[in-house]
Amino acid sequence: MSYYQIENLEEYFKHYKKSIREPKKFWGKIAEENFTWYQNWDKVLEGDLFQANVKWFSNAKLNIVKNCLDRHLSKRGNKNAIIFEPNNPDEPSQFITYNELYERVCKMANVLLEQGVKKGDRVCIYLPMIPELTISILACARIGAIHSVIFAGFSASALASRIEDCGAKLVITSDGAFRGNKVLDLKAIVDEALTQTPEVAKVLLVKRTNNKINIVPNRDLWVDDLLAAASSNSVAEVMDAEDPLFILYTSGSTGKPKGMLHTTAGYMVYVGYTFKNLFNYKEDDIFWCTADIGWITGHSYNLYGPLLNGATTVIFEGVPSYPDFGRFWQVIEKHKITQFYTAPTAIRALAKENLSFVDNHDLSSLRVLGSVGEPINEEAWHWYNNHVGQKKCPIIDTWWQTETGGVLISALPFITPTKPTYASLPLPGVLPVLMDDKRNEIDDNQVVGNLCIKQPWPGMARTIWGDHQRFIDTYFTAFPGKYFTGDGALRDEVGYYRITGRVDDVVIVSGHNLGTAPIEDAINEHPAVAESAIVGYPHDVKGNGLYGFVTLKEIGEYRDRNNLIKEINEQIATSIGPIAKLDKIQFVEGLPKTRSGKIMRRILRKIAEGDFSNFGDTSTLLDPEIVDKIKDGKI
Ligand code: WTA
Repeated sequence: MSYYQIENLEEYFKHYKKSIREPKKFWGKIAEENFTWYQNWDKVLEGDLFQANVKWFSNAKLNIVKNCLDRHLSKRGNKNAIIFEPNNPDEPSQFITYNELYERVCKMANVLLEQGVKKGDRVCIYLPMIPELTISILACARIGAIHSVIFAGFSASALASRIEDCGAKLVITSDGAFRGNKVLDLKAIVDEALTQTPEVAKVLLVKRTNNKINIVPNRDLWVDDLLAAASSNSVAEVMDAEDPLFILYTSGSTGKPKGMLHTTAGYMVYVGYTFKNLFNYKEDDIFWCTADIGWITGHSYNLYGPLLNGATTVIFEGVPSYPDFGRFWQVIEKHKITQFYTAPTAIRALAKENLSFVDNHDLSSLRVLGSVGEPINEEAWHWYNNHVGQKKCPIIDTWWQTETGGVLISALPFITPTKPTYASLPLPGVLPVLMDDKRNEIDDNQVVGNLCIKQPWPGMARTIWGDHQRFIDTYFTAFPGKYFTGDGALRDEVGYYRITGRVDDVVIVSGHNLGTAPIEDAINEHPAVAESAIVGYPHDVKGNGLYGFVTLKEIGEYRDRNNLIKEINEQIATSIGPIAKLDKIQFVEGLPKTRSGKIMRRILRKIAEGDFSNFGDTSTLLDPEIVDKIKDGKI
């Protein structure tokens, strides 16, 4: 019996049971039958969640790019691997076959080798959503270099700290990025970042916008020139199952970003398997995940998942609002998209616009709709269902994280009955559990608990780059023997999970995972600011907005509050990126702190939400009066 594809609900339950009782047999069989290996494993699974030392497919040898490209060539060489849809709808789409993608990746792999990149070296990629982004990633993986993609909306200082943290010696970027009606100067951002990271010896430049850019001699090289001279013969490096594949940074509730490390075999098997089942993937489908490849959703379900299954994946360079709010729907019609995977924030924003934007397009090619990144509220779910899916496409609400590598909880289309706002059932191999604050497992239904995972799964991150202790402290200490997700959830009477949101100081804004601590650090750098505290509050488009409570050193020259607000937001944009700008700023006399100096964020969250009804126990506050002052907006 093959486990790769689940056909119906009965089979789901059967596979699920098998995967939990005999995970080694279950994943061993999937790995053996659906992927190519230089050498098989000794053991399918070693280690445990108590020690956070999990290994999958020990001693197996493979290359993930051989699995994404080489093995498809005989059967699917002339099939489109990538459809590139440019920012400007008047620019022609590009169709890149598996043969062509293979050749371009091989050449790029040789370019990297010639630039001295070796197995295990880190390469940072700071590119817009263009085919060269996928090609660069696969070229790294082909030679065993560890790719670290930094979302091209991050600022120079955020980029620099990531380059420094992973110790990259080479950066791949472009002369610019098209985004709606803007042209972003990515190269200037890289130049600024590299003033802080002298170890970077080479910058490879992809030509996209023809911007005039500054070229640093001996450091900056045009990729096209190097590719013209590169051979297309390339032997994929033999990688160990547990060799690192990539580092992807995600926000923590404290301090610097966490470089989540994913390794080769487990990630490959998990992402290939989940892609196939989550999207009910069939050979002639045209799959579109709108997430930027700079986030985990793009890594797993724009790039690796589809290519591992020999699928056609769409890379979209633009934004949903350009040239108008019908762009997503126009692209679906143009390329006859069968599966569409996007974020609730995009749905909410588009649902606010005139219905004619969606009604004017033929969306009849769609079969499956997906949602990711944040809870999808009921209203957005119905709009998606009625107007995009026309009530005939199941919506999968996929819950997962950068740390988990692939989706952990989701309905399977045409198999699991869906229920709005519920991610529903765990995928095979995933054993969720809800824990109360006293570390007891919650058996009851309809009670919110801390969502943990009790059993290792192949796609899980193995460590935080350079800081294994932080990995253990963050994920495996609060509930020993379990992976703690940082999310709250409840379970209904049939075992469906509903994610209720973060229980830590991470706020999900427009589907982006933002830690409040780094934003506070950024604000506090402003000369007028003494202290700040940031909390999330419900926002009708972004899901959560950011609300900052700020105390000032002295008012002095900053009497103009609007100016000050602007400056604070500029400070955030410089330190982190525009995505982290605050929606609201309230200047306050003081922050509600306990006697031990800890800010009581629970109170600030309620004030930000406009809920002044019950602040709970405030007796441990140093100055309880401050709460009323903040509430009344007094400084
Ligand atoms: C949130 C994105 C509710 C959650 C793949 C998680 C969700 C964080 C959902 C991870 C969902 C993601 N329903 N919440 N379907 N999907 N989240 O690392 O809080 O960028 O912990 O990974 O997003 O964000 P990350």
